[in-house]
Amino acid sequence: MSAVITGVGAALPERVVPNAYFADHLDTSDQWIVKRTGIRERRWLDEDAHLADLALAAAHDALDVAGRDPAGLRHVVVATTTPDRVTPGLAVEVAARLGTPHAAAFDLHAACAGFLYALDHAAALIESGRAETVLVCGAEALTRITDRTDRSTAVLLGDAAGAVVLAAVPDGPAPTFALASDGEQIPLLYADRRERVLRMRGREIYEHAIAKMSAYTREVLALRSAKIDDIDLFIAHQANARIVRGVARELGIPDDRLYLNVDRVANTSSASIPVALAQARAEGRTGPTGLLGTAAFGAGVTWGAGVVGW
Ligand code: ACO
Repeated sequence: MSAVITGVGAALPERVVPNAYFADHLDTSDQWIVKRTGIRERRWLDEDAHLADLALAAAHDALDVAGRDPAGLRHVVVATTTPDRVTPGLAVEVAARLGTPHAAAFDLHAACAGFLYALDHAAALIESGRAETVLVCGAEALTRITDRTDRSTAVLLGDAAGAVVLAAVPDGPAPTFALASDGEQIPLLYADRRERVLRMRGREIYEHAIAKMSAYTREVLALRSAKIDDIDLFIAHQANARIVRGVARELGIPDDRLYLNVDRVANTSSASIPVALAQARAEGRTGPTGLLGTAAFGAGVTWGAGVVGW
């Protein structure tokens, strides 16, 4: 049995915040933001709204696409850095509201690489025979940890939720992942307990992100003796269009196999890869089956890459 993505879904908050909002409030401009990041607008969750509602909507979407009854689910994982409560996590609420009787449900925190970590864990559960189907969500309300007066981070971040159904498929392509972390690099990007907002050394993050996502994608391809041409669509964590294009350039990925939606949603951390996958599918950028190449880099620093069938 192989673990294959059989459903994808996404949910975005209704409030659209264009670059003009920051140009009105901070010393920045639409032109600067577009040129340096490719971002044109992002979505913000209202302060009193629940991220669980977005995660649940994305989960329903993914389960519908997969044709799965939520009641049959036994495992729910939500990658998030910004859950609604300190405890319990988002996953138990999502599982309960899906009507899954006593699913194993937990949150996973690995910053922007969280969704890849969660997907790797879900694939291991399926490949070991301990699960037949796993719902994997990525959900973030980064506005909860954004300093809206800091132009170097506020313009980059957005809120969203995405989900995939990973299921056992006989004769499906086996997934491959390579994940890593380096806690020596915490000062590059962190939110501490006192300030509770993200602080970042942007230029260093930028360089590490391109280098690590490229190297680990190469490693994953080597592990399965594959070439970049074997990948049907490549979705990197949507941190910044220049970072994603930099990785594509390093790896020789042509535009028709590269997906970018950072212009519309900005950086949504753990949510970015499943949201991009759902939007790519809605836009007809995925065929009925194929191989997804994916890579992520975030606070920690944590990073990784994966190849998984859909
Ligand atoms: N508007 C105008 N000027 C700005 C803005 C802004 N929004 N933000 C920063 N600047 C200024 C800086 O203050 C700096 O000014 P100075 O030269 O007077 O000191 C100047 O622009 C150049 O700054 P650099 O950092 O060198 O610019 P760079 O080309 O590197 O672009 C950016 C900055 C976009 C932040 C880039 O470094 C980047 O994308 N880094 C990675 C960011 C990222 O993905 N972080 C992860 C996010 S969070 C998470 O993981 C949850």
